Amino acid sequence: MSRMSLTRFLIEAQREGHINPQLRLLIEVVARACKRISVAVGKGALSDVLGDAVSGAGASSVNVQGEAQKKLDVLSNEILLEANAWGGHLAACASEEMEHCQPIPDAFPRGNYLLLFDPLDGSSNIDVNVSIGTIFSVLRAPDGAGEPEDAHFLQPGSAQVAAGYCVYGPSTLLVLSVGHGTHVFTLDREQGSFVLTRRDVRIPESTREFAINMSNQRHWEPPMQAYVADLLAGREGPRGKDYNMRWIASMVADVHRILTRGGIFIYPWDRREPDRPGKLRLMYEANPMAMLVEQAGGAATDGRRRILDIQPGSLHERVAVFLGSKDEVEAATRYHREHD
Ligand code: AHG
Ligand code: MN
Ligand code: MN
Ligand code: MN
Repeated sequence: MSRMSLTRFLIEAQREGHINPQLRLLIEVVARACKRISVAVGKGALSDVLGDAVSGAGASSVNVQGEAQKKLDVLSNEILLEANAWGGHLAACASEEMEHCQPIPDAFPRGNYLLLFDPLDGSSNIDVNVSIGTIFSVLRAPDGAGEPEDAHFLQPGSAQVAAGYCVYGPSTLLVLSVGHGTHVFTLDREQGSFVLTRRDVRIPESTREFAINMSNQRHWEPPMQAYVADLLAGREGPRGKDYNMRWIASMVADVHRILTRGGIFIYPWDRREPDRPGKLRLMYEANPMAMLVEQAGGAATDGRRRILDIQPGSLHERVAVFLGSKDEVEAATRYHREHD
């Protein structure tokens, strides 16, 4: 059976008026960068990509989030920046690993789009050979905006024109939405190209599976305690069914399982850092995942509000995340709203 390449899929999306040539090129370039990251991930210990990154002074290097950077965090960030510098499709990039946005260098023409990325998601899984990934989000630069700055990125997730992730697992997959469904492409390693393997993914509306880091339970707020207690109560409890639990600790891999067979992914607010609304980042983790999940018929909230409606106040803003099967996300959100 002949399968459709990502290139052909994007050309057809352009003909249908869903994307323009600049956005098509942008997505092709991000996909190419992900292929390079996939090759680096695949080499593992055979090349020098595992372990912690070190700063010039020999100490562990720490990013703007206060996290120790892995070599692959830094390398993936560089691959994405380099690949996107010269195509003429972008005005600037912003990344989990950089404090401020990086405008396209003066040597190259600037385009109309802004690209945000989590270059390597699931850093704690790199050295143990568990699936990791890359997450990205595309916005339009504001009209007549001039020199790119962080403020230009502060648009709600509903303004995204494209979002996607690449998961580096047993297969390398690219999952993409340009606002007309969510589609899965598998990297054909012999051909070196992504091919469409699932069009229009639909997430089952109800589920018996949840994903959360239970070790933080004692730090959760009362509605979270009540919600998870009812899941754990199983068929004898108010939810009336037995639930299973999975937690990979790579958001890409957990979300991919949910896109494939349903479930709810949760990273709630907790008391450890009371001033921080959650661990995950709104602009390059929650927003792109929320778009992909909604485009597949699922839902995404912060426990109270739809993620895609949140107006960001800063580039690295954090948010609580509840996403996946629609009925389950609505149930979890009800526990929070009824408590307020
Ligand atoms: P990153 O590696 O990009 O910093 O993101 C890690 C995130 C996310 O992928 C995952 O769901 C979560 O952190 C895991 O958190 P715990 O370590 O608390 O389980
Ligand atoms: Mn990180
Ligand atoms: Mn991440
Ligand atoms: Mn990351």
